[in-house]
Amino acid sequence: MKGRRAAVLPGSFDPIHNGHLDIIERCRPIFDEVIVAVLYNEEKKALFSVEERVEMIREALAECEDCRVESFSGLLVDFMQTVQGTTIVRGLRAVSDFEYEFQMALMNRRLDPRVETVFLTPKEVHTYVSSRLVKEVFFLGGDVTGLVPNDVLRRLEALRRRATS
Ligand code: PNS
Repeated sequence: MKGRRAAVLPGSFDPIHNGHLDIIERCRPIFDEVIVAVLYNEEKKALFSVEERVEMIREALAECEDCRVESFSGLLVDFMQTVQGTTIVRGLRAVSDFEYEFQMALMNRRLDPRVETVFLTPKEVHTYVSSRLVKEVFFLGGDVTGLVPNDVLRRLEALRRRATS
């Protein structure tokens, strides 16, 4: 019998959106555990702190007993060892995602040949959704209801109120 299979979904998640949640949901029947891993990245200017992003994801996954949310810094392959993750899972929305994802998968394989990357595709309605577009549309006054969890929407609104008061 094979051992416990733990998927690691790494990303910036600034913020998490419903496309991410769709991918997490798709992982659940395939893996014993789903670990969402939020990267501490000093170089990338983020809207939400890592702690806030972790909180938002935990809130969105409150009902998901086989999911956990962690933050990490450094190499993803090292984090995989720390949590005994077996597989990196990334969402692939369109061909435009492919080159970046392919490079990362091959680099991670070079760094640790034991680590496998698999790609899952979200439901079509999520294929155009990205954290970057959600933020852009929201702060330009567009409606992002239904694209992000309610808690994320509330936090975006709170940020906007703070910025305009
Ligand atoms: O959501 P993102 O920003 O596309 O996620 C990118 C992420 C976090 C998966 C990637 O930047 C990453 O794994 N960073 C950790 C550092 C690392 O291991 N770099 C080499 C991977 S090729």
